[in-house]
Amino acid sequence: MLKPLIAGNWKMNTAIHQGVELVMRLRELIKGVDAVEVVVAPPFTSIHHLSHLVADSPIKLCGQNLHWEKNGAYTGETSAEMLVSAGCRYVIVGHSERRQYFKESDEVVNKKVVAALKGGLRPIICVGETLSEREQGKTLTKVRSQVKKALAGLAGSVVKDITVAYEPIWAIGTGKNATAQEAEEVHNAMRNYLFEMFGPDDVKDLRIIYGGSVKADNIDDLMAQPNVDGALVGGASLKAEDFARIVKFQRLT
Ligand code: PGA
Repeated sequence: MLKPLIAGNWKMNTAIHQGVELVMRLRELIKGVDAVEVVVAPPFTSIHHLSHLVADSPIKLCGQNLHWEKNGAYTGETSAEMLVSAGCRYVIVGHSERRQYFKESDEVVNKKVVAALKGGLRPIICVGETLSEREQGKTLTKVRSQVKKALAGLAGSVVKDITVAYEPIWAIGTGKNATAQEAEEVHNAMRNYLFEMFGPDDVKDLRIIYGGSVKADNIDDLMAQPNVDGALVGGASLKAEDFARIVKFQRLT
């Protein structure tokens, strides 16, 4: 059994003082938790400040995005090296909001994954279908194609540092989560596909987590699925009590 990963994506929320409050409260609420890896992705502006507050806690920090170059004339962008120096261990890559609003293609996602790994960050790569793709029965084709392109050219030996997040777009921020069975079906297919791509040895430590309206009242069912290794949580990660309850999911199996 892989150590579950529960990650909170704060998106474009929280000024520094709000992030501090959230992390301080969360630290208290999850004190002593060590069976779960707990990650939060604050806005860039808060990361360095928060790194001091999480130093002796189970909480690890994550960027919400990165640029694939190390440095240079890319106004407004942030490199893997900068994120590491601010205190990050993880970075989210290819979130559907980046793909949709900032036109990130699969090729860009792939460059970012490569840059993250080279720079010493563990990428959490988001994939997922739209509602119309699901209704047309194209979910697995879409997700497989995104995984294939995001991981193109990677050596099997680095795959252990990757997390894939299955985030059906119709479930993000809508309150409509995929059922635990729907998530399991996609996770299972994705795991088999990754086995084909890299072989079981390289893939055995890769986590596949679910995201999209994860809440305190659906996390237990999701985590009871054999191929759900954690969760990427948006809205519910902004309330320390809700996120702590998700981190402390009840094992139903
Ligand atoms: P949500 O967001 O939990 O608010 O649906 C999930 C995500 O976008 O990662």
